[in-house]
Amino acid sequence: MNLIKKMLAAQAAVLALWAVSAQAATNDEIAERIKPVGEVCIQGEECKGVGAVAVSAGGGAKSPDDVIAAHCGACHSAGVLGAPKVGDTAAWKVRADKEGGLDGLLAKAISGINAMPPKGTCATCSDDELKGAIQKMSGL
Ligand code: HEC
Repeated sequence: MNLIKKMLAAQAAVLALWAVSAQAATNDEIAERIKPVGEVCIQGEECKGVGAVAVSAGGGAKSPDDVIAAHCGACHSAGVLGAPKVGDTAAWKVRADKEGGLDGLLAKAISGINAMPPKGTCATCSDDELKGAIQKMSGL
């Protein structure tokens, strides 16, 4: 083999390797991209990352976690403007006792109270969805 042929052969080998690794990378990327779609969610079990899909399969109700994350948490996580904090059951209990239980709290959440906007800014939330969020935040 003369020098030119050797160089060409070496180049072809490098090219072949490159093509194989490029293909592998592409397959990995494809697998990564289609993964969430292929994941199976079993009703009643937590299904991370595809909550919306699992929820819509269950009749379109927003989960308490979704409602809190998208709306209530903005104020209730840190207690902005005096909002009772998520997980501070004692603070929620005082309010529940005053309003006559969870349904009383729900009524105030729907109408709004002082700095608390009507429906906690979740205009599309049903009463049940709001109640679920209140239960989850208060632990009551
Ligand atoms: C813009 C801030 C803000 C957002 C967003 C918000 N809240 Fe509040 N919330 C408050 C504040 C402030 C209070 C305390 C009001 C007071 O007693 O003066 C409060 C109080 C409450 C109370 C107690 C009412 C009572 O009668 O004592 C409930 C129940 C409640 N919020 C539910 C929710 C729910 C459910 C969401 C989400 C869907 C939500 N809030 C979103 C600010 C907010």
